[in-house]
Amino acid sequence: QAPVLILGIETSCDETAASVVLRDQSGQGTIRSNVVRSQLDEHAAFGGVVPELAARAHVEWLDHIIAQAMREADIALTDIDAVAATAGPGLIGGVLVGLTTGKALAAALDKPLIAVNHLEGHALTARLTNGVAFPYLMLLVSGGHSQFVLVRGVGDYQRWGGTIDDALGEAFDKVAKLLSLGSPGGPAVERAARSGDPKRFRFPRPLLREDRLDFSFSGLKTAVRLQAEALAPLSEQDVADIAASFQDTVAAIVETRSRQALEQLARDYPGLPQRLVVAGGVAANRRLATALETMCAAAGAELVVPPIALCTDNGAMIAWAGAERFALGARDGFDVAARPRWPL
Ligand code: KG4
Ligand code: ZN
Repeated sequence: QAPVLILGIETSCDETAASVVLRDQSGQGTIRSNVVRSQLDEHAAFGGVVPELAARAHVEWLDHIIAQAMREADIALTDIDAVAATAGPGLIGGVLVGLTTGKALAAALDKPLIAVNHLEGHALTARLTNGVAFPYLMLLVSGGHSQFVLVRGVGDYQRWGGTIDDALGEAFDKVAKLLSLGSPGGPAVERAARSGDPKRFRFPRPLLREDRLDFSFSGLKTAVRLQAEALAPLSEQDVADIAASFQDTVAAIVETRSRQALEQLARDYPGLPQRLVVAGGVAANRRLATALETMCAAAGAELVVPPIALCTDNGAMIAWAGAERFALGARDGFDVAARPRWPL
């Protein structure tokens, strides 16, 4: 198969992102450019992402971000072989901005359009960064999703379990909010936790005794809130200790579940390498990564975590997922719809 240059566009949440990825004959990917503009400032005063503001910022910035991605890749738009854009799941206003821009570019350049599932972007990133072969076990932990998935091939995903309430990133964001740590919550909690005592509070670990690969984080979040209320007004040390105790609890929960998922992998697919691929924004958390590293080392399994910049939302993962689908002959029509909800 001839090498292809794919433009990837990502606008499903609060990152306006564009990237050019090259997929060569052997199926290997190279990132030629990867431009991300975070909307942190737009949403800072509101303690979370405001959908309408996000959509407007995407409108304002996307053309510039795409132009910059072209400059950094040192190519012209006409050099692109296909345009990939996130079509969901996500905040619908933002998704519409990116998908409509993708359609317009594809039409103007007379090049194919690939509508990409954002979650598929996260799921396939480890193939771009680490060349991981199918099938593999993935733990996807992002702002909207927390699940174990057996990635059997492009478009072929088997869900093994996941959260029954809040996503893990959402739990981080809510805990950050109730500790007044600002947004985005995950990095803020991680920062605060550095000077905290993770053993000061013992928070619940819902579902952990049950033999299933599911998560529940809403009870944990409530326990954190009750603890914060009981101690109010919180000293800086209280905040750090709560953050550290919460983070350690989460790490223990995810570590246990991931060990069980690897055990299931060994049972059901004895010939496969013991490997856990982690994807999504929460994979940027060092405490979590360390817990998973220790567990995998003890279990004789390989842990694959893409570089942080490719775990959080970006255009390269969309370009790459588009490239993988393009290589299999996928093309989308200009009538393809934006989807606020779109399970893997
Ligand atoms: O994958 P992502 O960038 O966007 C979604 O598709 O949701 O994930 C964003 C989520 C947010 O909830 C954010 O708080 C969390 O990932 N996150 C982190 C860290 N960095 C980002 N959570 C914990 N620790 C971090 N260092
Ligand atoms: Zn994401």
